[in-house]
Amino acid sequence: MAIRKIVTDEDELLRKKSREVVSVNNRIITLLDDMKDTLRLSEGVGLAAPQVGILRRIFIINVGIEEDREEIVEFIDPVIVEMSGEQTGAEGCLSVPGRSGTVTRPDKVTVEATDRNGKRFSYTGIGLMARCLCHEYDHLDGILYTDKASEMFEETEE
Ligand code: CO
Repeated sequence: MAIRKIVTDEDELLRKKSREVVSVNNRIITLLDDMKDTLRLSEGVGLAAPQVGILRRIFIINVGIEEDREEIVEFIDPVIVEMSGEQTGAEGCLSVPGRSGTVTRPDKVTVEATDRNGKRFSYTGIGLMARCLCHEYDHLDGILYTDKASEMFEETEE
């Protein structure tokens, strides 16, 4: 396992569309493990493969964050199958350091994806998790939340 460098928004790579994984090989498993280490170290909620410079359709989310525990779910070749409701709130991104913004997203989102064993599964997120699913999914299509933000803020050091 290793920490990978997080690409920031000056890099054109974050604007590219990621390719499907289709078959989960050892390189993908290593990537998933490294992404977990990188997410832990950066204390983020989610991380998409393009953020570590790999243009594959993969993201991970710590779905336990609201209960202050770690439960990282890995989404490979995700598809958003259902969206409903609406929420407006603050959003940030490990690739956009020092800034945050206000973004309107669906309040409930269901994603179907492949796990590391090659099995398809379904995951439904509400509130913050719905926001996170949409945010990470957008990364796979080269979209950043700054594109969708109604206002942006500079973060001040605490
Ligand atoms: Co992001």
